[in-house]
Amino acid sequence: MFDKIEELLLQVRQFQTGDKNEIEQFRIVYLGKKGSVTELFEKFREVPAEQKKEFGQKINGLKQAVNAKLDELKAALSTETIAEKSDLTRPGLPLELGSRHPISIVRNRITEIFRSIGFAVADGPEVEDDWHNFTALNLPEYHPARDMQDTFFIEQNPDILLRTHTSSVQIRYMENNEPPMRILSPGRVFRNEAISSRSHCIFHQIEGLYIDKDVSFADLKQTIQYFTTELFGKSKIRMRPSYFPFTEPSAEVDVYWGLNSETDYRITKGTGWLEILGCGMVDPAVLKNVNIDPEKYSGYAFGMGIERIVMLLYQISDIRLFFENDLRTLEQFKTL
Ligand code: DAH
Repeated sequence: MFDKIEELLLQVRQFQTGDKNEIEQFRIVYLGKKGSVTELFEKFREVPAEQKKEFGQKINGLKQAVNAKLDELKAALSTETIAEKSDLTRPGLPLELGSRHPISIVRNRITEIFRSIGFAVADGPEVEDDWHNFTALNLPEYHPARDMQDTFFIEQNPDILLRTHTSSVQIRYMENNEPPMRILSPGRVFRNEAISSRSHCIFHQIEGLYIDKDVSFADLKQTIQYFTTELFGKSKIRMRPSYFPFTEPSAEVDVYWGLNSETDYRITKGTGWLEILGCGMVDPAVLKNVNIDPEKYSGYAFGMGIERIVMLLYQISDIRLFFENDLRTLEQFKTL
């Protein structure tokens, strides 16, 4: 009899199933009216008095083991049914998509236009040294043109500064590559200027550079015209003589915006023309600074402020809106 109980106990402990019906079957086999445990309880009367105590403990132990096993199997079953009950085909909660910042939208658009005519994107550091930001660009120390760009210097080392323009990337690229080269460098620049609706101490520029044999001013003009046509849908441009230390000759480019609306009058101050960028033929002195032979190679460069172009495209009147991260502003660019 005791052997029989031990045997049943082992069977109970080893029993496993994930099936609801089999669990019920298991219950009936042991605890049902004719179940093995029930039968053992009935045999209790026949057990000799001196064994009654031990027998009682053993069958109670067996009954507990059956109940524990039932609890265990049912618990495993109920976690399964939760998974089964869930509708796994139900769509998830709607995820709200963010949007790009207007500066990024326009930067990407400009980059794409130039990429389509063979310009590669080149990067450079925002913390620069004097050589790449000024000296190599034909702006030696004490040169008055340095005053055109109010600079943030590092107090402990005036050789280190926050770049005032992306022209520094030209130098870095030319130092490390051989012509022909055709690059575009978008990036953040810094100037120690008072913040107003028109100027900010942090802003963004895009620099372009093309160096090859026989690059001419006509190539420059053609490229700029292609760009204004693609970006604004306007192909009428004019080039006004200007001065930049790193280009010779230098020009400022105006695009003919037109005078079709009140806004056109306002933004062009009644002239129809809008200035959009600075450019010129890379000064031979700059080429020499990066060990490119100016007798063999020539090239052009241009630079533009991204904020200005975004403000034109979307008629935004205050540059500070780009830096406030106010959702009421940014959400308006969601579908662009
Ligand atoms: N670096 C100039 C600035 O920040 C912009 C510029 C003008 C870049 C003419 C050029 C260029 O490459 O040729 O004002």
